[in-house]
Amino acid sequence: MNAVIEERRGSVLILKLNNPPVNGLGAALRTALVTAIKAGQADNEIDAFVVSGEGRMYSAGADIREFGSTPPAGTPDLNDVIDSLEMSSKPVVSAIHGVAAGGGLELALGTHYRVADPKTRVGLPEVTLGILPGAGGTQRLPRLIDINKALDLITSGRLISAGEANTLGIIDEIADGDVLEAAVEAAERLATEGATPRRSRDQSVGIAAAKDNPSLFEDFAKTMAKAARGMNAPYACVRCVEAAATMDFDAGLKYEREEFNKLVSATESAAMRHAFFAEREVAKIPDVPASTPTKDITSAAIIGCGTMGGGIAMNFANVGIPVTIIETEQAALDRGLERIKGNYANTVSKGRLTQDAMDKRMALLTGATDMRAIGDADIVIEAVFEEMSVKKEIFAKIDAIAKPGAILATNTSTLDVDEIAAVTKRPEDVVGTHFFSPANVMRLLENVCGAKSSPETIASVMKLGKTINKVAVLVGVCDGFVGNRMLHQYGREANLLIEEGALPQQVDKVIFDFGFPMGPFTMGDMAGLDIGWAVRKRKAAERPSNQRYSAVADRICEQGRFGQKTGAGWYRYEAGNRTPIPDLEIEALIVQASKDAGIERREISDEEVLKRCLYPLVNEGAKILEEGLAIRSSDIDVIWVHGYGFPRYRGGPMFWADTIGLDEVHETMRRYHAEHGELMRPANLLEKLAKEGKKFSDFKG
Ligand SMILES: NC(=O)c1ccc[n+]([C@@H]2O[C@H](COP(=O)([O-])OP(=O)(O)OC[C@H]3O[C@@H](n4cnc5c(N)ncnc54)[C@H](O)[C@@H]3O)[C@@H](O)[C@H]2O)c1
Repeated sequence: MNAVIEERRGSVLILKLNNPPVNGLGAALRTALVTAIKAGQADNEIDAFVVSGEGRMYSAGADIREFGSTPPAGTPDLNDVIDSLEMSSKPVVSAIHGVAAGGGLELALGTHYRVADPKTRVGLPEVTLGILPGAGGTQRLPRLIDINKALDLITSGRLISAGEANTLGIIDEIADGDVLEAAVEAAERLATEGATPRRSRDQSVGIAAAKDNPSLFEDFAKTMAKAARGMNAPYACVRCVEAAATMDFDAGLKYEREEFNKLVSATESAAMRHAFFAEREVAKIPDVPASTPTKDITSAAIIGCGTMGGGIAMNFANVGIPVTIIETEQAALDRGLERIKGNYANTVSKGRLTQDAMDKRMALLTGATDMRAIGDADIVIEAVFEEMSVKKEIFAKIDAIAKPGAILATNTSTLDVDEIAAVTKRPEDVVGTHFFSPANVMRLLENVCGAKSSPETIASVMKLGKTINKVAVLVGVCDGFVGNRMLHQYGREANLLIEEGALPQQVDKVIFDFGFPMGPFTMGDMAGLDIGWAVRKRKAAERPSNQRYSAVADRICEQGRFGQKTGAGWYRYEAGNRTPIPDLEIEALIVQASKDAGIERREISDEEVLKRCLYPLVNEGAKILEEGLAIRSSDIDVIWVHGYGFPRYRGGPMFWADTIGLDEVHETMRRYHAEHGELMRPANLLEKLAKEGKKFSDFKG
């Protein structure tokens, strides 16, 4: 296969990048491109070049599989390739279609003129992999467009439309018809004009503005403080753009390379690449090959229009799938539909949805109080109260009414999917679809595979995840499934730390500083403390009497402090303000609770807080893996990054543990086991991998 396909149109040489599926700029392609340009330069019959992409797109950029490996000696790097295009004495035009991203856009920025198909999307997403555009992107873009726009594109990594890119000055021309023909025409025109090729390195559109405004970069860095918290790459991007404004082109390019090299070998980028691949890997299920037939889902029914049911229904309406919603009484149904309408109206008021789109979505929702209305649905999702008896009763009814072959799903967060499936005559069609709250916002979907769920059912709900823009992860049946089962460990330890000497604000700060959006106590106040309290009261009898239990949370609830909604919880709140304020009353209550439990409070280090909260969580992940309830450790990482706000730049809990070293995690768990008892027993898998000097990522089930 030729990595570059050459085609002649009169005196124009077309060079088509050919490395399916995304024309990744791998070693073979880079070599072929440089060779072709050199030959073309020397050929008197060629007056100009057009660079385009064979297949679906121009190029999605560097071949990230090549990261960390050394290409064959003498292979040009991307900077060499771009340099040979840019320095060509004959005009080089890009014909861009599909996507020009990362190195792909950097390549196009090295050409002298860019023509794009109107549907093209372009951008520099490197920062989302913890790196920066390392082939001149940070140097050329600010020379072509407004400097703040360049900073925004490079530090956010977002892709933009051809239209926006044209307005900004990244794209010179949007093709009316065939983009390649338009590019050939442009190349002929430029060759005829005979002007010196317009090189991006010689432009100064954006950098000129920066010369008069030296604080521009510092000001910009402040605007991204929240989104970039804990990360290095976005700040390195800003420094490189600043270098574009303050250094000459070649020095800037060298600076960019140095910054790139630092980032590419750091854990942050390894973690973000891990997350990127993990999100793709998650769709692969060993017993369910990609060829497994899936059921078409063109209509849905949701039973229960409470907190979850309403949000779940919105997911379907958002992608144009009609939904029937069932409630027991008209009043509850009206309330549920009103809440959905309110949610949409809120989005409209923020300008993120048009009124017309909202009306179309609302029109896809039909309410009913008679279960017979679910008869035609391709999928029925139950989201009623978390009571086994209620779920069983509903599933018996669903079984009697739903059409043959329909997928019967439960949104239970703790109950046994197999027990629910057993009340139907078609357990092969039954599955768990565990959405996270708020279901219309949170991207995680834990699909729970029952003992009898058929491969077709599994393949269908995994595909459904994609259809409704979720990240679907397949898990097995157990209490809390994967995410909440691990969360339970973390929550318990956070509470015990409070009893031993820490305060909520200390624990929350440590967890926040680690990179979570918030700590467990702020989170509890936001979600409402009453729900957990009710569960604890219900399950009190099941708790072994010799198991340590912190009563602090219960005492707080006994005072009617349920969190933000009551103006007080673990913290106090001022009216109309959601900022948690540490409360001396709570401190006194905690100190008293420690005393009552016979615990002498001690100074607890931030390091202990972090390890006590997160190592048991990882340890539980190890148990989940050895029990076969998650397919691979990276699936657990995906769950935590998308469902619980685990910082993506740390890869997920299992990857994070791998970077620390499992021997350290294991040793610490052993110590905790000795100090705190059975709940802290190290998982067998953790012990085994630690002893073998291996990682969770080595575990293949
Ligand atoms: N709230 C969460 O954060 C969350 C997250 C994940 C999963 N879940 C699970 O989702 C399910 C629903 O939770 P929720 O928070 O939405 O509860 P909710 O109490 O807000 O809503 C349940 C709704 O079901 C309705 N209902 C009850 N019996 C019904 C019946 N026979 N027919 C039709 N409707 C009926 C109720 O009227 C109520 O509106 C539970 O299984 C829960 O464990 C909840």
